[in-house]
Amino acid sequence: MKFSSKIQRCGLSPIRKFYPYQVECQKKGIKIYHLNIGQPDIKTPESYFETVRNFSAPVLEYAPSPGIPVTIKKVEDYYRSIGMQIDPGDVVITAGGSEAITFSMEVILDDGDEILIPEPFYPNYKTFIYNTGADIVAIPTTAEEGYHYADLDRLEAAVTPNTRAIMFTNPGNPTGVVLTADERRLIADFAKKHDLWIIADEVYREFTYNGEALATMGTMEDIWDRLIIIDSVSKRFSACGARVGSVVCKNKEFQAEFMKLLQARLSVPTLDQLASASLYDVDPQYFKDVNEEYKKRRDTVYSELMKIPGIVCKEPQGAFYMMVKMPVDDSEKFLIWLLTEFNDNNETVMYAPAGGFYKTPGAGIDEMRIAYILNCDDLKRAIQLLGMGIAKYNAR
Ligand SMILES: Cc1ncc(COP(=O)(O)O)c(C=O)c1O
Repeated sequence: MKFSSKIQRCGLSPIRKFYPYQVECQKKGIKIYHLNIGQPDIKTPESYFETVRNFSAPVLEYAPSPGIPVTIKKVEDYYRSIGMQIDPGDVVITAGGSEAITFSMEVILDDGDEILIPEPFYPNYKTFIYNTGADIVAIPTTAEEGYHYADLDRLEAAVTPNTRAIMFTNPGNPTGVVLTADERRLIADFAKKHDLWIIADEVYREFTYNGEALATMGTMEDIWDRLIIIDSVSKRFSACGARVGSVVCKNKEFQAEFMKLLQARLSVPTLDQLASASLYDVDPQYFKDVNEEYKKRRDTVYSELMKIPGIVCKEPQGAFYMMVKMPVDDSEKFLIWLLTEFNDNNETVMYAPAGGFYKTPGAGIDEMRIAYILNCDDLKRAIQLLGMGIAKYNAR
């Protein structure tokens, strides 16, 4: 049977493809410290589960295609609280940030179009974009510069007559880079100059560690006609399984086209939307506690990494990831070796090799992404295992 050329350009998730090695390693009784997946271990606020338990309608009906009004209202109020003017119809609910991105790409991209993305980037962007027939043009960054990308020369060098959009994750997955207000302005002006859509994936907005106020591209009124904000409850409320996200866009024509996809897929699950609405009433202390915990983790990982000779990385400012350049020949081979040949007291460590986070072939071969989603003691041990592993691997 024939498969589409579009799906055949896509690959499996580089984060999940080492699972068979994990299983074999665990069969030997070895404990693995997981730094490879961005599943937060923070407790989901209880109101989510209470709402599900208290649901008493006799029929579990389809929800309206753009979302349940109470859920939309909570997202609208949230955006107002961070300084963005919101009008009716600006917010629609999607099945996670993932559907928000997939549908946005389908609405704005055609065969042969190009979208600029700083690399390394969230690998699933490839699948979302290649299925439209468009191509990714990578904006290059380096570990030595802390993966910063908001540099006008670099952006200008990537533009071609086919460029339609620029997309970025802020705060960054996998880099932890957080844009400053000046950098957000620079990207906005660049997009205006070249008449580009801006897709701001802000699903990690709450996770910044240097005292920054909550920021969104949505406070710049002069880009409202071209700005598509991707949002989600997954990370904000540690509710990844809810599968509830949203698109915030003030361009009415975009929303009219987007609605075709929303209606075709009928609706987002009713119970999860209602429960997600309740999350927006969580006590603000929740965010303070969560951020404090992640900041401690970030500091622990960074200071432990700095003890390993040959490591190159800058302290990340946000999200709960960091990219690290290691003194090894190939981070995939090294990971497989850690899972098949190495252990210390029956323990080893797993990370995400960074090659899959790049568009450029061969880039990131000696880099890894760490998700700091374990408690500080476990993180310390995990990074120590990594250091021991590097020394042994290179001494073979
Ligand atoms: C950068 C980024 N965008 C979007 C998503 C999608 O999240 P969800 O579909 O759970 O909202 C993720 C998930 O890890 C992510 O890291």
